[in-house]
Amino acid sequence: LRVAVVGGGANSEHDVSLASAAAVAAALPRSSYDVVPVTVTRCGGWQDHGGRPLGVLGAVALLSSCDVVFPAVHGSGGEDGTIAALCELAGLPCVGSPAPAGATAMDKHLTKLVAVAAGVRVAAGRLVTPSTAPDLAWTDPVVVKPVAAGSSQGVSLVEHAADLEPALKEAFLHGERVLVEEVVHGREIDVAVLGTADGERVVAPALEIVGPGIFDYATKYGGAADLRVPAQITRDEEDQLSAAAVRMYDALGCRGLARIDFFLTTDGPVLLEVNTMPGLTEHSQAPRMFAAAGIAYPELLDRMVADALR
Ligand code: DAL
Ligand code: MG
Repeated sequence: LRVAVVGGGANSEHDVSLASAAAVAAALPRSSYDVVPVTVTRCGGWQDHGGRPLGVLGAVALLSSCDVVFPAVHGSGGEDGTIAALCELAGLPCVGSPAPAGATAMDKHLTKLVAVAAGVRVAAGRLVTPSTAPDLAWTDPVVVKPVAAGSSQGVSLVEHAADLEPALKEAFLHGERVLVEEVVHGREIDVAVLGTADGERVVAPALEIVGPGIFDYATKYGGAADLRVPAQITRDEEDQLSAAAVRMYDALGCRGLARIDFFLTTDGPVLLEVNTMPGLTEHSQAPRMFAAAGIAYPELLDRMVADALR
């Protein structure tokens, strides 16, 4: 099977996506797969394995020479459904969620609207744009986050009124729509769901991120994160988290693998976000969770590809 593994991307998660794609390309069993690596540069250009520019038409031609496309691209220009849409137009099977699910999940504001409609709790807050930002009155500590940046970039915990304006400025660097939310106190727990087109939903044991402060870019990729699988939670908490994760997965119309992140509060789970193409190195959260469920990394990848080909 010839599989195009796409990595990189024109966004702030470029390096993370390169790592995911390299890991996927290395782990897909050679007995079944002939891997064609493709890279999207930081500027959005497409390149083949040798770093030769392809142009969009060249890229579509190369992807079309494959049986299936595996877009290991986090963030905008990939996880947001754009590669799924390109593949759909080109008639190519594509691993992961279809375009509408990716686009909605990439937008934290739209995701919250879906969550509320699906009965999943979210943090109270409001959507702020550069024109409404000056009306924002300081009340309590808040979290400021761009609606669409990945890997926690542009996210600030604001504890003093004087820090609000710089936090908004920082968040606006990532886009003109920013969420300002109340601070949710809870344990940070991730749940991974692997679905198939015929309705099977495999939920891996939950993972807890233990650590002080926000699980930010430096903690995520600086090796300081303390990830515990399975999370030490009660059976009841596990059930509530799984149910909320599957509800989000289905309400968004996800496919393949998704990682749904929550705060587990004393009143139950509060949704943080949905990742339709979560970090995918062997040591990233979702692969670790499935390993704990007895689904080894190459098998997880194999199942993701198989589902795209159904
Ligand atoms: N956005 C990063 C890659 C993650 O969700 O793991
Ligand atoms: Mg994310």
